[in-house]
Amino acid sequence: MSLFNSEQQWANFWLGRVGWQPSWAASRIAESCDATSLVADIGGAHGRDSFYLGAKGFRVVLLEPNAYSLKMALQRVKGLRIRIDIVRSALPNLPVRDKCFNAVTFYWGLHSYPDEAKLGALVEIERVMANGGVLLSASFRSWSGHSVPLSIHLVPKKEGFIAWHEQAGFRTLKVTDMADETHTFEKSWCGEFKKP
Ligand SMILES: C[S@@+](CC[C@H](N)C(=O)[O-])C[C@H]1O[C@@H](n2cnc3c(N)ncnc32)[C@H](O)[C@@H]1O
Repeated sequence: MSLFNSEQQWANFWLGRVGWQPSWAASRIAESCDATSLVADIGGAHGRDSFYLGAKGFRVVLLEPNAYSLKMALQRVKGLRIRIDIVRSALPNLPVRDKCFNAVTFYWGLHSYPDEAKLGALVEIERVMANGGVLLSASFRSWSGHSVPLSIHLVPKKEGFIAWHEQAGFRTLKVTDMADETHTFEKSWCGEFKKP
């Protein structure tokens, strides 16, 4: 059960919550990746990370199942002089070839999947990444003092967060613990991983 009755309600909620400011993952890609990189914004909602990276000259593909979030992205892209490819799709079956992305933002992605689906989602991300590509992955780890919606499947332990990614074939570069700037009770793992 989710707090929202429809995809449209959720898409509007999320736009209000995060706006068009980039996530930590997009900022890290902009700092650390070559501008010729092909980037996937997986589960990117209305595409705040895609727009930020597109404006910086990266080639970006937004992959997201929510049709209303994608409608917002399509409306925004029309008014801007940047190109973003937008594909309605869901993990664990992305309609893209093997090894094509040099970088992936999967921000606040992993907690969207029940534990039994987490590994399948990450294995699919690993499939679409080029060797040497970097994955920026963040997941909620706790909501101190707040009840957690049933649609969120926390990853409480750092070792567990690392293990999901390493089981999918990634090498861990760095994992940090971050609190959200506005909702400080929301604590996340922010991980940088590499496909060997
Ligand atoms: C918490 S939001 C994060 C959105 C975005 N990464 C950001 O930081 O603004 C999680 C997103 O994952 C998407 N999602 C849910 N299930 C998915 C799936 N199976 N495959 C890809 N994305 C999915 C949701 O529609 C939602 O847009």
